[in-house]
Amino acid sequence: MKDKIESFVKEINHFSIEDLQSLEKFRIQYLGTKGLLKDLFGELKSVPNEDKKDVGQLLNGLRSLAEEKFNSHKETLDSPAKSSATIDTSRPGENSEVGSRHPLMMVRSEIIEIFSRIGYSVSEGPEMEDDWHNFSALNFPPEHPARDMQDTFFIDNDGKEEMALRTHTSSVQVRVMENQKPPIRTISPGRVFRNEAISARAHCFFHQVEGLYIDKKVSFADLKQTLLYFAQEMFGEKAQIRLRPSYFPFTEPSAEVDVSCSICNSKGCNVCKYTGWLEILGCGMVDPAVLESCGIDSKEYSGFAFGMGIERITQLKYKVNDLRLYSENDVRFLKQFTGGI
Ligand code: DAH
Repeated sequence: MKDKIESFVKEINHFSIEDLQSLEKFRIQYLGTKGLLKDLFGELKSVPNEDKKDVGQLLNGLRSLAEEKFNSHKETLDSPAKSSATIDTSRPGENSEVGSRHPLMMVRSEIIEIFSRIGYSVSEGPEMEDDWHNFSALNFPPEHPARDMQDTFFIDNDGKEEMALRTHTSSVQVRVMENQKPPIRTISPGRVFRNEAISARAHCFFHQVEGLYIDKKVSFADLKQTLLYFAQEMFGEKAQIRLRPSYFPFTEPSAEVDVSCSICNSKGCNVCKYTGWLEILGCGMVDPAVLESCGIDSKEYSGFAFGMGIERITQLKYKVNDLRLYSENDVRFLKQFTGGI
């Protein structure tokens, strides 16, 4: 009996299964109700008692062998795509398309990186704001014409307090000052919204980075030096800045900052309109009334703030002249920007 089983092991191993027909033949011959294994198990009765255990084990092994062979061939024949016979392993791989970073996000990261090197943290606030954080705490009195400086999208809030899409990231300064004690050194990147007709030079949404530094004895000289550091890190060590007096309700004194035109080396070109200078941001010393509105003692602390448009910096760095390109998702535009952080 043992020899018989041994020869069937060989027979099963040599049985070639190439298609569903031969698989079925194999099943009937070995595993079917009238198959070989059934017969052999029937013969077990006539095996002497002392051999029964050994022969039984051999028979179980034979059955497992036949079942495993059947199952593994069934699996490959049922799903031919997975069968190794149909995979051409010598075929070259298919390239997967790699995306690129959006230019605005590259510049945003670079700005964050530049300020983080001099100790600025990043803080964020909501895009939908109340009047207090977007206007009142920043010294825009009710009905004051300064509110018209920034055309606002108001949001109907079911009769509850009127909300608006924030018109600038200066709203985040208010939130930070309300929630943190000085010294404060933070920048706030984010999306802002204005009710403007879309054109090459204006958009209904764009991105800003707000900066805020509050401590004892912070001076205008600190502001100027910080902005010079930023301009040289961003536009190269030869970059120069100039400050022009300006007006913002939340800073006093206020200034607008120009950077020397890196496109023509300040010689004059159509981008800088032959002035050699390009406007990049607004800034000033935080108005004491704003500090007080946010719970900071203006006799003990002073500070500066600044706000810049990320699109504007990106435009100067990458010479993109049309604001609409940033939000059209045209891959021919986006694919040109590689690397960056
Ligand atoms: N919030 C101003 C704007 O959107 C930009 C700005 C100007 C921010 C002066 C400031 C600042 O923090 O001090 O036009």
